[in-house]
Amino acid sequence: MAPRRREQIESGQDITFSKVFVPFYRSLVLGMRCNSIIEVGCGTGHLAKEFSQIAERVYALEPSVGMHSIAADVLRDSRVTLVHNSVEQYQATEQFDCAVSHLCAQAVTDLSAFLKGCTGLLNSNGQLIFSIPHPCFWNDYQRYFNSQGFDYTVEQFTVATLTISLDRESQMTEIPFNHRPLSRYVEVISQCGFAVDRFHEIFPTADVQSLYPKPWERPHFCVFQSNRRR
Ligand SMILES: C[S@@+](CC[C@H](N)C(=O)[O-])C[C@H]1O[C@@H](n2cnc3c(N)ncnc32)[C@H](O)[C@@H]1O
Repeated sequence: MAPRRREQIESGQDITFSKVFVPFYRSLVLGMRCNSIIEVGCGTGHLAKEFSQIAERVYALEPSVGMHSIAADVLRDSRVTLVHNSVEQYQATEQFDCAVSHLCAQAVTDLSAFLKGCTGLLNSNGQLIFSIPHPCFWNDYQRYFNSQGFDYTVEQFTVATLTISLDRESQMTEIPFNHRPLSRYVEVISQCGFAVDRFHEIFPTADVQSLYPKPWERPHFCVFQSNRRR
């Protein structure tokens, strides 16, 4: 899956990654003026590479062998320190201004341990930023659960198949997916001693919408931006 994912990103087939999320994170992180960023679950490493053009110190964690080996190649000549580990196992020796995790939290079974790991990497003013498929709208879009089996209010797990608009052939199977209502995310963020500062519902601009075979009807993703509770 990792080499195909690399191709999708580098060929521009993944419009959502290159035209929606990269500009979104760039503008968010530039606005925060952070010197240090750690990306948790960096996958192929392309987002971490973007961050290395903005922040002085960039780390990227990736536990999967396949993804880590692609990321090592993508980040070869960059200033990013790539670590082959999960956030729960990683013993950090440094703290960061910002921890970003893009589309990982829905994949993890133990959300508390995952977000505790992320917040543990931050200095006292550090911000936690993570994205997930929007729990209110994702199932209408991708139908991971059939309508009888889906209850928005209940946490539920499935193993899904993902395709992207411009690469229908390449189905990514066996993707772990946890549906959780938004309130569950807010609850766990709060248990970590953090509070949601901003909640972003991701929707493409009109010019980007026109690049998709079918325009989005609803926000497909959302992003929690949280600070330590004072
Ligand atoms: C859906 S992929 C997203 C990858 C990348 N962020 C992207 O957008 O292409 C989820 C990633 O999270 C990583 N991951 C899963 N559990 C993790 C954990 N506990 N700590 C750090 N990364 C994790 C997986 O190895 C995988 O690369």
